[in-house]
Amino acid sequence: PDAPLLAPSLLSADFARLGEELQMLESTGAQVVHVDVMDGRFVPNITIGLPVVEGLRKATALPLDCHLMIVEPLRYAVEFVKAGADWVSVHQEADPHLNRTLAAIRQAGAKAGVVLNPGTPVETLVDLVGDFDFVLLMSVNPGFGGQSFIPRVLDKVRRLDALRTERGIPFLIEVDGGVSLKNAADLVRAGADCLVAGNAVFKAPDPRTAVSGLLGEMAK
Ligand code: DX5
Ligand code: ZN
Repeated sequence: PDAPLLAPSLLSADFARLGEELQMLESTGAQVVHVDVMDGRFVPNITIGLPVVEGLRKATALPLDCHLMIVEPLRYAVEFVKAGADWVSVHQEADPHLNRTLAAIRQAGAKAGVVLNPGTPVETLVDLVGDFDFVLLMSVNPGFGGQSFIPRVLDKVRRLDALRTERGIPFLIEVDGGVSLKNAADLVRAGADCLVAGNAVFKAPDPRTAVSGLLGEMAK
């Protein structure tokens, strides 16, 4: 299989210096940039919107992975693709019409993903396999960076990995929340292809060293 991907989350970056933070990331070996979009309704926090994504797009060639923590994601998903997102994911819990939303994202030209909160079983996706390009498993309750990793996600990764093998339909498994040097190797061994890391990168004394440490764990 391909080398696992690391997606640093800009939520923990310095919002006054996003361009410099992106340049720093480009020099690290991290392959994807994770962008947390929150609307103050699906989650109790408001963060980044379309104009910021447009700005990020101009400032980096790295793929932008937009994690939409918003109600009624179909209203905005295609707009995020137009703003420059390469990957767009929407929460299962926020969307009664996932098949429609995922198709719209793909048609707009981006990879389409479904996000599951810690309490949402992976089995809710069995009838959507083939309709998404990736699944993002939350290993914290969405809304804030810097929370503790919920270890039960490891079992969810294994069950999703089994599901794709059984169906013979490929999709990526991404994990988000509390990822650190302590759990990165276990997550990849369980079947994760992409790890999001906010605090573990941007609150580290040296983010470059933090990225190489995480990539080293992921290669174990
Ligand atoms: C949480 C966000 C995460 C967050 C991860 O709602 O979806 O992407 O930035 O931050 P850490 O790695 O600090 O848990
Ligand atoms: Zn996220």
